Amino acid sequence: MDVRHYLQFKDFTRHEYEYLFERTRWIKDLFKRYVPYQPLRDRTLAMVFEKHSTRTRVSFEAGMHQLGGAVITLMTRDTQMGRGEPIEDVARVITRMVDIVMIRTFEQEIIERFAAHSRVPVVNGLTDEYHPCQILGDIYTYIEHRGSIAGKTVAWIGDSNNVCNTWLQAAKIFDFNFHVASPAGYELEPERGESYESMHLEIFGDPIEAARDADLITTDVWTSMGFEKETEERKQDFARYCVNRGMMAVARPDALFMHCLPAHRGEEVDAAVIDGPQSAVWDEAENRLHTQKALMEYLLLGRIKTQGELWST
Ligand code: CP
Ligand code: NVA
Repeated sequence: MDVRHYLQFKDFTRHEYEYLFERTRWIKDLFKRYVPYQPLRDRTLAMVFEKHSTRTRVSFEAGMHQLGGAVITLMTRDTQMGRGEPIEDVARVITRMVDIVMIRTFEQEIIERFAAHSRVPVVNGLTDEYHPCQILGDIYTYIEHRGSIAGKTVAWIGDSNNVCNTWLQAAKIFDFNFHVASPAGYELEPERGESYESMHLEIFGDPIEAARDADLITTDVWTSMGFEKETEERKQDFARYCVNRGMMAVARPDALFMHCLPAHRGEEVDAAVIDGPQSAVWDEAENRLHTQKALMEYLLLGRIKTQGELWST
């Protein structure tokens, strides 16, 4: 049987996401009521980090423990990978020893090479190009707060980075409008937008116009991991790309604000917005835990009969 991986958001269908959200709601409810649910006893998750992390590490580690399994965390610099062992050999070895692997790395190509030599499911915990687990949690959070995301408008303000690319894939799957406003030189790569209808992707020169009538405004750091040398230059280039009260004011009155975190108050977002009443960032961060538990359960055990009614995505 083919092993399923989760390397990009588009690896799953909308039907699968509906199932995952149903499971997430059930798993989250048990967690909130302190009811143990341990279907992954004797299973081991290996996590490989080539970049820093707080949320991804804690949510996967806590999630696997809560599901009854064990976790091994590898920082590449402490392993033979840090001394140049080929990624294909690492994949061949560690996937004979563990049941599932999560990787945070640089180019998407690295995780694809790992997956091609893996015997077990591989999950993308962020690459330069994508961050699917983030948008899995974000869309769950949107639906939890506001109901179906279909037909809504999500505005992305800032760098057309890994998180932005992943929102774009989600727009097609969930059928929402995706507005993007990025400074010159930091726009979406043309080939990424190629297969998108105008209803799923609209590019704006002016961030205020991108935010107008949006149901959700979201942003991310001006400088992603791996681009630190450009920090000072980016501070100049992104100066107009701060989500502030004025920007929230042109969105719909019930618009939410989201940010994958970590945030830099006074840069990509003002404190008044991220710490204000429309911000969903703490629920968004928490939902990484619950959605990823559903994801690991699905990748390891397949579909489990659910009791609730189906989610309207
Ligand atoms: N949002 C997110 O992935 O956070 P970390 O970098 O802390 O894992
Ligand atoms: N775009 C950011 C996301 C961090 C979670 C980065 O890649 O650093």
